[in-house]
Amino acid sequence: MTKLYKIAVIPGDGIGPEVIQEGVKVLEKAVELTDVRFDFHYFPWGCEYYLQHGRMMAEDGIEQLRQFDAIYLGAVGFPGVPDHISLWDLLLKIRKEFDQYVNIRPITLLDGAPCPLKNTGKEQVDMLFIRENSEGEYAGAGDWLFKGRDNETVLQTSVFSRKGTERIIRYAFETARKMGQSLTSISKGNALNYSMVFWDQVFAEVASEYPDVPTHSYLVDAASMLMIKQPERFQVVVTSNLFGDILTDLGAALAGGLGLAAGANINPERTHPSMFEPIHGSAPDIAGKGIANPLAAIWSASQMLEFFGYEELAGSVLKAIEQVMVEGAVLTPDMSGKAATSEVGDRVVEVLASMH
Ligand code: NAI
Ligand code: MG
Repeated sequence: MTKLYKIAVIPGDGIGPEVIQEGVKVLEKAVELTDVRFDFHYFPWGCEYYLQHGRMMAEDGIEQLRQFDAIYLGAVGFPGVPDHISLWDLLLKIRKEFDQYVNIRPITLLDGAPCPLKNTGKEQVDMLFIRENSEGEYAGAGDWLFKGRDNETVLQTSVFSRKGTERIIRYAFETARKMGQSLTSISKGNALNYSMVFWDQVFAEVASEYPDVPTHSYLVDAASMLMIKQPERFQVVVTSNLFGDILTDLGAALAGGLGLAAGANINPERTHPSMFEPIHGSAPDIAGKGIANPLAAIWSASQMLEFFGYEELAGSVLKAIEQVMVEGAVLTPDMSGKAATSEVGDRVVEVLASMH
């Protein structure tokens, strides 16, 4: 049965609009290949909007977005607007208001993707990071005392609620079970004697409900070494907000760089829209030149297809990305190519069409 999905597109700043245009191109091709239908609605929010209106999004922005099935976001942030404003007033606001407590970041070394490790391929680097996305170290809790005095003191408090910790770990177990893979928890219980001891305890509790899922537990420092030395140890991974943020950038470097890294912000209950985005920023250094790599944005479009239940089509989009990289003829400069952003998008669309 044909289903019409309403997509809120927020191209954002810098290279955001350039890469999102290519992702939309791919989604429009997907519409021709199956019975999925999309209704795209564009929102001009971001730093330029901020400079005109003094806010990153419309005052009732969250209410406007609520009626959509998903949000497709480019990147926000640009010189001239402090990063903590652009981040908190748009991206983090959406993640929080829509309770997108799962951040999914695939770290798969596709064929043809550049990898800094020697003799390494998809057999070694094929992980799915599930990062807690609503609390933890990024809860925004703390204080700034005695500002400017010699006893100046800042507190940045981590918040790990039982509900928040349990739901992310349970989501990870469900995912690992569905994929028939192991689940690795990354924490730091030796040093963080409240938050991470609690995390480890909840992980063990939930694990007892999933005896069929093999588990591993690593300290975050050891895990960062193992990701480089023995990446094949990791399949599905669950970790806290901060550790996930850092380790997925490490993962992005392993799996082809920022131009290829995608992330989904999921509200699993589907009571609110989920958000799909490349994890890179607005890249002011190359914005407007038409040379940004659109593959991360296209990968996140494929995550959106998967979320809507079009797994096969999502897989085809990934295969198309892979083929374009293996061919090597049409790639942007960050992947040692000479092609423009739109040429890469066109080539992915061509390859995708030839598969069906
Ligand atoms: P960035 O990801 O924008 O750029 C880092 C480096 O990677 C730059 O040299 C850039 O040219 C390159 N790069 C990034 N994406 C690329 C692509 N698709 N193709 C080719 N090269 C690419 O990170 P940076 O410079 O730290 O931040 C720039 C702005 O973006 C800041 O305002 C920051 O706050 C914002 N930002 C926004 C994010 C978001 O909206 N999710 C995430 C990260 C940063
Ligand atoms: Mg990050």
